[in-house]
Amino acid sequence: MSSDKRLPASHTERLDAICRSTAIIPVLVIERLDHAVPLAQALVDGGLNVLEITLRTGCAVEAMQRIRDALPDVTIGAGTVLSLEQYRISEEIGVDFVVTPGTTPTLFDHGLASPVPMLPGIATVSELLTGWERGYQRFKFFPAEANGGAKALKSFAGPLPEAQFCPTGGVTVDNAADYLALPNVMCVGGSWMAPKSLVDQQDWAGITRLTREATQRYPR
Ligand code: 3PG
Repeated sequence: MSSDKRLPASHTERLDAICRSTAIIPVLVIERLDHAVPLAQALVDGGLNVLEITLRTGCAVEAMQRIRDALPDVTIGAGTVLSLEQYRISEEIGVDFVVTPGTTPTLFDHGLASPVPMLPGIATVSELLTGWERGYQRFKFFPAEANGGAKALKSFAGPLPEAQFCPTGGVTVDNAADYLALPNVMCVGGSWMAPKSLVDQQDWAGITRLTREATQRYPR
């Protein structure tokens, strides 16, 4: 580890601005390029402006570029960043932030000097400490429900009360309330408002309906 290097405070501030502007960050898997803009528009129409677009599909990079061009007010996070190569591609596109499902020391170190702040994924206190010792204070907790859910996050606040989280993975419109009630939760992430079935049917109105249900229940 490059022990002399610490995360600049500006990264934490930028993540705070993003993660406190919304109670919910939708996690999107875009399989068809022509779905990108209507899907993003459907979420915006329902009240969500911060979108995590996962790099799990071949068209994800172009999808982010199209959304950026069509909807410049949307805040875009590149999700499922697994490697330095994917982090660098995200920097080149100029996304607003990067999200990882889990974080290697290599990714933690790269994020220190990157122009794009990273919300690093962690699931254990040891992983949390690997980031913490480099200055990271904001994390994605993934997969949240499978790793103890809101109870686990409550326990994380014992040793590290300053760490703040975006739990993701198994979060639903109903259990989101348990997470959002915790003082160490900034927002939650999830895919429930854009389920694959509705995306495949191009049921954009249905996605707006689910999104509005979520934003009315958890306004910000
Ligand atoms: C993620 O990568 O954050 C998850 O795939 C989202 O989890 P969910 O589909 O259980 O909401």
